[in-house]
Order: sequence, then structure tokens, then C-alpha cells
Amino acid sequence: MDDWKARTRLVHEGSRRSQYGEMAEALFLTQGFAYQTAEEAEARFIKAGKDEFIYARYGNPTTRMFEDRIAAIEGTEDAFATASGMAAVNGALTSILSAGDHVVAARALFGSCLYVLELLGRFGVEVTLVDGLDLDQWRAALRPDTKVVFFESVSNPTLEVIDIKAVCDLAHERGATVIVDNVFTTPIFSNAVALGADVVVYSATKHIDGSGRAMGGVVCGRRDYIRGPLEAYIKHTGSAMSPFNAWIMLSGLQTLDLRVRAQADTALQLARTAESHGAVARTIYPGLGSHPQHGLALDQMGSGGTMLALDLKGGQAAAFRFLNALRIIKISNNLGDARSIATHPATTTHQRLPDEHKKQLGITPGLVRLSVGIEDAGDLIDEVTAALDMI
Ligand SMILES: Cc1ncc(COP(=O)(O)O)c(C=O)c1O
Repeated sequence: MDDWKARTRLVHEGSRRSQYGEMAEALFLTQGFAYQTAEEAEARFIKAGKDEFIYARYGNPTTRMFEDRIAAIEGTEDAFATASGMAAVNGALTSILSAGDHVVAARALFGSCLYVLELLGRFGVEVTLVDGLDLDQWRAALRPDTKVVFFESVSNPTLEVIDIKAVCDLAHERGATVIVDNVFTTPIFSNAVALGADVVVYSATKHIDGSGRAMGGVVCGRRDYIRGPLEAYIKHTGSAMSPFNAWIMLSGLQTLDLRVRAQADTALQLARTAESHGAVARTIYPGLGSHPQHGLALDQMGSGGTMLALDLKGGQAAAFRFLNALRIIKISNNLGDARSIATHPATTTHQRLPDEHKKQLGITPGLVRLSVGIEDAGDLIDEVTAALDMI
């Protein structure tokens, strides 16, 4: 299997077939597993082999197929699937942090990720937030007792692109473990491990499912971490992925490359359209030459990705008029779906952030985030142009 390219791996990697030789991955919708003998049960509790299962909260054959497939794509030794993206973020952090440890994280984080960091503070973990784009701030914040560095490789919703290699190099000088939330980058455009990340987390809810159906997450990394502290934390605290959701995610992975590349092509066309429209103060898309980290984005991801943001000149009123004029593009707070989605972060996903924090992150009243789907690019361009004209 070593020579298989990503698209082949996305279709086949990790597959296990039962005695029936089924083509599609089997859904093992079972909580438990029966042992032939008491000795076998005892042996499995002492050390379960890769294809030996105990209880679905610990692992399941369908879930294991998903874990093997995503690990192969990400280029890590192993992966552990979780009930949601937040279960992955929380597990990745909490499983290795203890009271007295120090974390440095980029300030531009998804709201729930910020909540987890606040929670860790209640248990004696000290957290320093920095401007993720400013390497001097990372350098100044890192200390000998810094255990973990955490950031979103492309931030939500303002699409700042963090220099993964530079931050990893600084973190590793201090012996810190780097955990990257790679949701906006997607596994297709990810080079995070090659650039030095120790652990990569995804909300599988987004592009991996890709059809807006099931919640899920995954933590990818070295086997000693994944099958050591991470697995222990997830299996004992109860946040493993359900076999049913893993089965959905497996088929999501099969079409991931095709979808995400088509979405990114359309996103670039939409960004170019928006950039030349008078109603838009700023079009934020890493694939545009005007994006402050355009060169880094292309080096790091080879693409501008599937997400863009428009800062509309007329503030919230203009943003709402734009959203209300959309028909194909749905108003929702999700992303990574085959259906295009528009979000007004200031009043929804980032509503609870204090105004000062919103300002620091560039979440203005006129900001609209677009998650580009797989619909016809021409239809989406016509719709966005008409909605912008209406403002
Ligand atoms: C960057 C990022 N990380 C993590 C999550 C959490 O994922 P989930 O909703 O699957 O828990 C999200 C969800 O939007 C996200 O955007």
C-alpha cells in the first residue's frame, strides 16, 4: 500500500472485510464483543491487538477503518476518532496537560476552543494567548515549562494563515508539543505533520462528512501518544465516535479530495468576483494575491481553501441584506458542507466574544463568512453578484 496516492487511499485504506467479502465497509453496530473463552477475555483486557475489540467506547471495527484511513492521509502513525471536533480538541489538550503546565495558543480561535482553554485554567493550567501571525509574540510567550502550543492553521472566521513550520520550530526549541486544529485546511491541503506539527485535530463534522449529516472528530499523531494518553482519556471519559458516524465518515473520505478541490476552485472564482464589487470593503481569501499571507498559504496548503470572508461596506445592515437575498447559499453556522453556507459571525458563532476581542480578530459587523459548496460555480457567482448588487 506504500505507493498508493492519496485518492486511492481515501477510497481503500483501512478497509477490513468480513467473511462475506462485502464491497462497502461494514457497519458494526455493536456495543460489545463476545470472547470464545474466559482466558481470551482476560488476555484482551491485558493487551488488545489491533483488530481485537472490547467495547465500542474503546474502539470498534468500523471506527478503526476510519482511523486508519485518516491517519494514512494525514501521514501520522495513528488516529483516534471522537464524537465531535470539540471532543478531539478537548481530548488532545486535556489528555497531556496537568495543573502547573503552561500553554501558548493563538488568540484567533473558534469560540468553543477558547472555552476549553478557559476550562483548563480552572484546573491550574496557565494559558497565554498571542497574535498567531506575530512570531515575536510566540517567541516571547514560550517558556521552559510550556507543554503545549495550540493554534488553528487557518483561523475561523478571518482566515489568518499561521506559519506552521516557524511556530513548530520555536515550540520544539522549548520542548513543547504542537497541536494544530486543521479544520479550515482540510486533510487534502494539509502538510501540518511534514511542517512539524506533533498532533493534528479535525472536526470531521465539516469537510470529512461533507454532506452535513453526522458529528465527529479525529486526533492524528504518533502511536505512543494516540494509543497512550489520548486513548486512555477518550475511552474513559466517553467521547469516542459512534460506529454509525464512522461509517458515514468513511464514505465522506472517499469523495473528500474531489469535493474539496472543486470547492476551492469555486471559492477562488467567488473571491475574485467579490473583490471587484463596490459593495465589498475587503475580500479575505488566502488564494487571492491581496491576502496578507497569500504566499505562505500557497506554500503551506497549495490552495486558498474552501472558505472566504467578505467585509461589506454597509456594516451589519448590509450583511443582513446580503444574507437575506441568498437562495442557493443557506444561512447557517456550519461549514465544509457540499451545500454552500453563509454565516454572520458577529451575531452567531462569535456572538459571545467581548467587542474588544471581536475587534482584535477583525470580526466586524459587516463580515460574512462563506463556506463554498459543490454547486455550479456560475450559479454561485450569479447569486453572490445579485446579492451584492442589492445592498
Ligand atoms: C476550527 C474549528 N475547530 C473545532 C470545531 C468544532 O467541531 P465540532 O462542531 O465538530 O465539535 C469547529 C466547528 O465549527 C471549528 O470551526
